[in-house]
Amino acid sequence: MSVKREKAGFEPLYIDNVYVAYGKADVLSDVSMEILPGRITCLLGGNGAGKSTLIRAILGLTPPRQGSIAFDGVDITHEAPHRIVARGIACIPEGRRIFPKMSVYENLLMGAYQEKSRARIRATLEKVYALFPRLEERSRQLAGTMSGGEQAMVSIGRGLMRAPKLLVIDEPSLGLSPALVNENFRIIRKICEEGTAVFLVEQNVRQTLAIAHYGYVLSQGRVVAGGTAEDLKKAEQVQKAYFG
Ligand SMILES: Nc1ncnc2c1ncn2[C@@H]1O[C@H](COP(=O)(O)OP(=O)(O)O)[C@@H](O)[C@H]1O
Ligand SMILES: [Mg+2]
Repeated sequence: MSVKREKAGFEPLYIDNVYVAYGKADVLSDVSMEILPGRITCLLGGNGAGKSTLIRAILGLTPPRQGSIAFDGVDITHEAPHRIVARGIACIPEGRRIFPKMSVYENLLMGAYQEKSRARIRATLEKVYALFPRLEERSRQLAGTMSGGEQAMVSIGRGLMRAPKLLVIDEPSLGLSPALVNENFRIIRKICEEGTAVFLVEQNVRQTLAIAHYGYVLSQGRVVAGGTAEDLKKAEQVQKAYFG
């Protein structure tokens, strides 16, 4: 099927010695990371650590004042956001930002606005419905009337409609019960197994480390730990901050 072509692997996303400032104050300092194809890489950190700012830097919305970002073998540090997105990075923003007055189906189609081929849109939609059967059952329902967990599914589904190589998700567990987080994270794991790399930005440490392969911990704009999910579970900073 043609969607397969879009899901091909990529050269890792390399973030190299990145500094980002709003005005004079640095929000990110000397941040380096690798986000690998075929894997879930997580970014953990408390409120204000700079997680969303790093996403903005990757997407070209707040370019770094120093350092570089490369994706798929190309330097994207100062590329325009729409060009970066066109390279195969889809982002699901904090707070989901679905279109409440549109149906679930219409919300999903909005994610595919760049795709011209109706056959390809149809095939991708079928994959999204296979991952989220609830969205197919509720395809005509107004998205604003769905539950929080279902709205999270709509936002993730909309991101997948771009058939991205890398899906960046900013705090999908926010406001969800542990059971709903479990359900959505199980699906995120499946998305990865089907070939889409995931950069999962979260404050929910336990549930995130349960599905991630690799991860980093950000504190006050600096990387304070990094490694495999198993390493991170044992890391002192993570232990102290989150596991008491
Ligand atoms: N547009 C902005 N202008 C100035 N400061 C900002 C802006 N956006 C975020 N910040 C500041 O940058 C820091 C990191 O914010 P953010 O990246 O949103 O953290 P996180 O996503 O980890 O909660 C915070 O101190 C926040 O107040
Ligand atoms: Mg944030």
